[in-house]
Amino acid sequence: MSRFGADPHAFFTRVYADVAPWEIGDAQPDMARLLAAYPPADPVLDLGSATGDLAIYLANLGHEVIGLEFVAAAVEQARAKISRLPAESAARLRFVTGDATRPSALGIPLGAAVDSGFLHLLDPAATDLFIADLARAIAPGGRYYLHEFAVEFPIDNVPRAVTEEEIETRFSLASGWRLLEMRRAEFFNRVAQPTPAVIACAERV
Ligand SMILES: C[S@@+](CC[C@H](N)C(=O)[O-])C[C@H]1O[C@@H](n2cnc3c(N)ncnc32)[C@H](O)[C@@H]1O
Repeated sequence: MSRFGADPHAFFTRVYADVAPWEIGDAQPDMARLLAAYPPADPVLDLGSATGDLAIYLANLGHEVIGLEFVAAAVEQARAKISRLPAESAARLRFVTGDATRPSALGIPLGAAVDSGFLHLLDPAATDLFIADLARAIAPGGRYYLHEFAVEFPIDNVPRAVTEEEIETRFSLASGWRLLEMRRAEFFNRVAQPTPAVIACAERV
């Protein structure tokens, strides 16, 4: 059973019946700073793209972006936002309904993947499978940007803590990655104080 019950898709679909707490209407500030420091290559895949704000942020910077999200209602909202963008940004952006734990299934060699609060939804065993698949999807020299909760909450249906030690181990040279940056961060939401988080950028070797 996942942290989000027997059917995580049903759980997240229910969340999107209202405005989800992570919907802040823009890219997370720490993710925006990391992307500015380590620019991604195209195409960029946004894992768990919600209603599209990070993908739109990247498309407005000039990147080719694919948003991948398993809740159809969120994808519909993201596609509705495309119609309000400048034509040149809209042409660089698309949203796909699907499972972000298997990015290689898209069949697209990725320049980069951005993960704003996705990996921390997955238990360690599911994370192992996800990272192995991501490594197949990202081209050599491509980058993975992750921004995850760094604290554990003693309640159901909340992401797990991702530690700096876990990131160092998963993205070591021995595992085929080079960690370019990792630091403490904050994850903003629309209902409460920001959550202590960790943010990192790893490059495929
Ligand atoms: C914590 S939210 C973060 C959303 C967004 N990236 C942000 O920063 O605001 C996680 C998102 O991942 C989506 N998600 C969860 N599991 C997924 C899966 N296996 N495949 C695709 N999307 C998934 C959820 O529906 C939700 O939109």
